[in-house]
Amino acid sequence: MLLDHKVALVTGGDSGIGHAISIGLAAAGAAVTINYHRDQAAATATLQQILQAGGKAQIAQADVARPEEIQRLVEQTVRAYGRLDVMINNAGLETRTSVLETTEQQFDLVLDVDLKSAFFGTQHAAKQMIAQGGGGRIINISSVHEDWPMPGNTAYCCAKGGMRMLTRTAGVELAPHGITVVGIGPGAVATPINAATLANPQEKDRLDAAIPLGRVAQPKEIADLVIWLASDQASYVTSATYFVDGGLMQASVGL
Ligand code: BGC
Repeated sequence: MLLDHKVALVTGGDSGIGHAISIGLAAAGAAVTINYHRDQAAATATLQQILQAGGKAQIAQADVARPEEIQRLVEQTVRAYGRLDVMINNAGLETRTSVLETTEQQFDLVLDVDLKSAFFGTQHAAKQMIAQGGGGRIINISSVHEDWPMPGNTAYCCAKGGMRMLTRTAGVELAPHGITVVGIGPGAVATPINAATLANPQEKDRLDAAIPLGRVAQPKEIADLVIWLASDQASYVTSATYFVDGGLMQASVGL
């Protein structure tokens, strides 16, 4: 299989896109550490799904906004599976607050969970990959909003804009070690982050109508690209973001 003998760590691997990535990586042959923050039941359900399909995985609680907890996740992965080949910086949240209303607490929360975790996830994963040798893959789950303004979600756009430059810069810095750093920029996906929009028929119709493919993505449609990017087939891809948005960003140009 595509990811046989690979070891992966997915932050926020119990929910939404992260859940689909955990399932997909394991189905492709990787041993997976599924990180979760609070929802142990969701992490356990993800783990059960993988084990029942004959895959290899473990769950690991950590608050990835804290660098020392990310370091612990990397150590836990190496203790269980001997190495780390694929780091998926996926955990994320948004407050949907504008520049005028965002509190310092909201700003810090969004930047810590969405950007600081990816920065130190990259750092700790890269240290391990360099120590073990043989290169590796770091994949940052970003958003179309690393590039495209979303009024009313300003801190999130700042975090994803930062992630864009993390991918580009760390990709250049880590290339001599054979470590690639790639971003994935989903558009609207059917996950908990969009639950309120999708539960409102009018809002959902408006969103579907804005997307050239006419619908939001399923998490698996994001995970399928992650699996390929995590594989040896993607050996020459680095320092770039792939958008997976049904054409959303391009359609907005010229409105
Ligand atoms: C955001 C969603 C938004 C989508 C498309 C995602 O990154 O989390 O709130 O609906 O982008 O704009």
